Amino acid sequence: MTAQPETTPRSLLFVCLGNICRSPLAEGIFLHLADARGVRDAFEADSCGTGAWHVGERPDARAAAVARQNGVKLVSIARQLDPRRDFERFELILPMDRSNRDDLLDAGAPEGRVRLMRSYDPTLAGATERELDVPDPYYGGPDGFQHVFDMLVRSCTGLLDRIARERA
Ligand code: 4NP
Repeated sequence: MTAQPETTPRSLLFVCLGNICRSPLAEGIFLHLADARGVRDAFEADSCGTGAWHVGERPDARAAAVARQNGVKLVSIARQLDPRRDFERFELILPMDRSNRDDLLDAGAPEGRVRLMRSYDPTLAGATERELDVPDPYYGGPDGFQHVFDMLVRSCTGLLDRIARERA
């Protein structure tokens, strides 16, 4: 999981299980940070879940609250992965944990475009793959959401830095 995609990505898909906690946060944070750098228009970003339980729902209230407290707007409405369309449309596919990653690969995702989200966190350089999961905060308390928010800020920052270096 350390090799990087062949092309500098323009279109990114953030993936978790329910698409109401982690991946909407990742999408919102990525777009917020890209906007702050003046590169928002360089990207197409979306998020989805491997599961269908929450299709059509807004992000979990606790995810929305932590985003709001940190000045990040969440725009997504939950949808399920659409393998046929998504694997054609997105150049970089970013699962939140190894289980999401395995589900993507089982659904036929091109391996070269799939990277664990936290593999871009520079503070985790050299970490083993099992240390790279974004923990699922759904069954925990609000603290878990801030913890997830902070790790996604580090990961999205690292991702934007890498893309900027590749484009330089
Ligand atoms: P997410 O969290 O994958 O980060 O959106 C979850 C949301 C809902 C469920 C599981 C995880 N659920 O089982 O309903």
